[in-house]
Amino acid sequence: MAQEDRVLSGMQSSGRLHIGNLVGALQNWVRLQDKYDCFYFIADWHSLTTGYANPSTIKESTEDLLMNFLAAGLDPDRCTIFIQSRILQHAELHLLLSMIAPLGWLERVPSYKEKQQELKDRDLSTYGFLGYPLLQTADIIIYKAKYVPVGIDQVPHLEISREIARRFNFLYREVFPEPEALLTEFPKVPGVDGRKMSKSYDNAIYLSDAPEVIENKLRTMMTDPARKRRTDRGNPELSPVFHLHNIFSSKEEQDEVAEGCRTAGIGCIDCKKILIKNIFRILEPIWAKRAELISNPRILNEVAEKGTEKARKVAEETMVLVREVMGLR
Ligand code: TRP
Repeated sequence: MAQEDRVLSGMQSSGRLHIGNLVGALQNWVRLQDKYDCFYFIADWHSLTTGYANPSTIKESTEDLLMNFLAAGLDPDRCTIFIQSRILQHAELHLLLSMIAPLGWLERVPSYKEKQQELKDRDLSTYGFLGYPLLQTADIIIYKAKYVPVGIDQVPHLEISREIARRFNFLYREVFPEPEALLTEFPKVPGVDGRKMSKSYDNAIYLSDAPEVIENKLRTMMTDPARKRRTDRGNPELSPVFHLHNIFSSKEEQDEVAEGCRTAGIGCIDCKKILIKNIFRILEPIWAKRAELISNPRILNEVAEKGTEKARKVAEETMVLVREVMGLR
């Protein structure tokens, strides 16, 4: 692990950023920016692989992500922030990799069939959706990234990336290092209904939500269903509120609310008030930075411009070699 080692990760622009994304990914990205040469980007092409029929939200989501990247502490002077679709070299490499990518490898990626099952309302028997992990591979190896901070769900994609890099190196020349997943160990963040926080469940707390909206979402959040009256004893483990305390509150507060829940010493509203206070404490600086950026939208453009230009240079350098070894120059 060295400062020069390159780290790369991306987020799809298919929805607004929520606090699950914040603590599960973005805060980790922020921590990594002083340890490595970090490249972070918004994967707007990837959002088309499942959302091609509804492209109208992509632009808004891209802006929301970019704003939140900065608001959460990514610093354009310490990392490279860019937008995938502005670097056509990704698409060129994706095309060239498609020549050597065995169909069977792509069809075997578990998320391919799983997502098709999950998103039954969409036709995902498309070429682009099958190629999702290949586009992701191009995103990564075009920068010769060594580490890719991702959640456990992305590990099979990383495996494909390694296999494709290996195959390329074997067929032509040693060009690409095999990228490694930098696993982000993080407990699942529950949404307000107790299921995993996700934009598709409509249970998320967004960074762009107004404080009143968040307060209301948390106040009405599900608790231990067995604890109906204030005098009923509860089991904190069965309350998603407690699981959020585990992420956002101090150890003392966690012990206090757990004990209070078990003994009916504390009511659900008081327990939630502590949580609201702690979540607000984390979000307040982010809101302040967002407000600054909203009144100064030029900054976002400049950051994206500068980062994209820097990333494009690196990507183009790789492509000069790729074209050459594939007989194109
Ligand atoms: N597939 C990733 C996600 O859904 C986003 C992504 C696209 C990505 N390209 C990437 C992540 C390259 C890491 C590296 O979150």
